[in-house]
Amino acid sequence: MTTTPRRLAVFASGGGSNLQAILDYLDALGPAAPADVVLVASNRASAPALDRVRPLGIATEFIAQPADGAALLALLDRHEVNLIALAGYLKFIPAEVTQRWRGAIINIHPALLPRFGGPGMYGSAVHRAVIAAGDRESGATVHFVDDQYDRGAVIARVRVPVACGESAEQLAERVLAAEHALYPRALHAVAAGWISLDGDGQAVITDRSALNTQIPASAFPIEFLPAVFGRSSSQ
Ligand code: GRF
Repeated sequence: MTTTPRRLAVFASGGGSNLQAILDYLDALGPAAPADVVLVASNRASAPALDRVRPLGIATEFIAQPADGAALLALLDRHEVNLIALAGYLKFIPAEVTQRWRGAIINIHPALLPRFGGPGMYGSAVHRAVIAAGDRESGATVHFVDDQYDRGAVIARVRVPVACGESAEQLAERVLAAEHALYPRALHAVAAGWISLDGDGQAVITDRSALNTQIPASAFPIEFLPAVFGRSSSQ
């Protein structure tokens, strides 16, 4: 790929294992990487995600007032960011940011959206709810971020079967492993421009051939635009 890599900011509130998966994936792609992580930002000054990248010389920022959209926009401008990945970021992104950054903010959620999403649905609460509902299948979903929690257009997902009698912690661990395969690949598709958000708020595949041939294989079957795939017999 010869286009300029996107300048990616990752927002994380916690441990940052998805951040690490993104860093490792982009690193492995070398000069073909569609993005560089230029900033890691957190609403928690002590977030381990920030500690992960300090030795790498990647800029870090503490977001003191996550609801202050103007401050967030200024921060993104300062670092000349042009793509944002939320990776376990627990604060709402203000509407003025999601509107200005339409189609350029993505998030990962540890369930098959639209099930088990929305306010309060994070961390182990998600996996407890899946088990309590008796679902036989969970998974992870990457979606564009709009002005509602976990409601933006779905980019890609991985399904993870729920094992009989397993605990929320066990399910969380297996879903997290799937996330580490899913998130970097979904990010790749968006950063390279092979999937984008259209004017109607739908995710669309703009280069199916690149998507099929240039994203490294994964041990987890990744479904891009699952609703489209569900309708199509050719996939
Ligand atoms: C992940 O389960 C992600 O889906 C959710 O928050 C968790 C973050 O984990 N949004 P980590 O900080 O990447 O380890």
